[in-house]
Amino acid sequence: MKKIILSIIIGSFFIITSCQKLMPPAPKDEDVLAGTIPGLTAEQEKEHLVGDASFGKIFTKEEGLGPIFVQTSCSNCHIGNGKGHPSTQLTRFANVNGSVIDYLLNKGGPQLQQHAILGYLPETLPTEANVFSKRIAPAVMGLGYIAALDDQSILNNADPNDINGDGISGRPNYVTPTSFFSPQSIHIPFNGQYIGRFGKKAEKVTIQDQVVFALKQDIGITSDFDTQDLFNYQLGVYTGDDIADPEVSSGFVHGLVFYMRTLKAPTRRNKDNADVIAGEKLFAQIGCTSCHTPSFTTAQSDISALSNQIFYPYSDFLLHDMGELLDDSFPEGSANGFEWRTPPLWGLGLAKDSQGGQMFLLHDGRAKTFEQVITFHGGEAASRRTAFNALSQGEKDQIFKFLESL
Ligand code: HEC
Ligand code: HEC
Repeated sequence: MKKIILSIIIGSFFIITSCQKLMPPAPKDEDVLAGTIPGLTAEQEKEHLVGDASFGKIFTKEEGLGPIFVQTSCSNCHIGNGKGHPSTQLTRFANVNGSVIDYLLNKGGPQLQQHAILGYLPETLPTEANVFSKRIAPAVMGLGYIAALDDQSILNNADPNDINGDGISGRPNYVTPTSFFSPQSIHIPFNGQYIGRFGKKAEKVTIQDQVVFALKQDIGITSDFDTQDLFNYQLGVYTGDDIADPEVSSGFVHGLVFYMRTLKAPTRRNKDNADVIAGEKLFAQIGCTSCHTPSFTTAQSDISALSNQIFYPYSDFLLHDMGELLDDSFPEGSANGFEWRTPPLWGLGLAKDSQGGQMFLLHDGRAKTFEQVITFHGGEAASRRTAFNALSQGEKDQIFKFLESL
């Protein structure tokens, strides 16, 4: 009897250990760019899952894909909600002649769709295009916090004429709002324009603006907010696909927006490591924080878990002159070619996981290491680059360890 019990115990021990070997251990919360912001209701958690499925949905021709498109799904570019790989980079184009900017809307602008469904011509760049902006997908974590900021908190860091004399003159990107934008109490208009906070040049005011644009310009999907299919100018007519427009409902769009709003911010790692702590101090000391503002507090939000929350994006959401090397000559809203929105740095430590084991940094993915990123920091950031270059290798490594902890 004893023997039998013992062999059962030993047997189940083997089963348990071998099961554990078969199933990879669940990744730790801090090692993935997924999950919801803390404090959602059960109902909101459910809504998030619906949006999650839409974000991963691969569109087919029968569902309205195209007729021309860049990719077939949001998550093809925003892999695991993280940064995209240069192979899914998108291209915007325009004709700029002095102060005259033509986004070549009648020639397929402002974005290239280099793929097409069967029977349609993929788009090629028109000969009139003389400026090009190539961009890789940013991570999409924590966007709900950014959306819940009031404009005043962004304006507080703006200093367009560098009155405080720190060499940094961030300014907001005032953009003409979309037809479906409805201003909230957080928004402060200026001459009928609103402050953009999403996109690499802060050219989108709300998450919804970005989602509607992405559905159409990236996947060729029409919605209630933009009912006209993309067309290939080479055919000379506005022929869309055979699927009735709008191809997705407003509920589908709202689901995606809700998903984006409720994805948690990346969780920090190794926060208590001595090098990480020293790196964060150096990062502030040499003035990286003049643009990469560590924290903000959100305003009231209709999602109560987003109300009055402190968050740590390491961005001021303002435009900065980044110098010649990063100038793509492509204006957007009031942003010039050499101006870029300070990108949030949270999630950087996990960038390589979604980029195939190798980091691709900056707007087009040209930098493969943090060190390279800083060599490209010119314009307003040049003095900080000089300060960085004056550090010892050990101190530089501490800054890199800090960036990896975000
Ligand atoms: C072809 C690749 C690609 C696809 C497909 C794509 N995106 Fe993006 N996404 C980008 C790029 C590149 C940017 C930066 C855009 C800019 O600078 O204007 C971006 C920006 C965003 C942003 C703003 C993030 C920020 O920090 O400002 C959101 C939100 C977003 N995408 C959501 C979506 C959703 C939702 C879909 C699917 C409907 C989608 N994207 C499909 C490449 C893509
Ligand atoms: C003048 C404002 C400014 C200052 C000062 C500044 N940055 Fe940046 N930083 C930016 C902008 C804008 C970008 C995006 C440029 C681009 O994509 O072309 C950026 C990009 C980055 C990135 C890459 C992010 C990504 O997702 O690809 C890192 C890392 C970074 N900065 C670190 C630093 C460090 C370290 C310092 C201090 C030595 C610093 N920055 C100082 C504005 C600034």
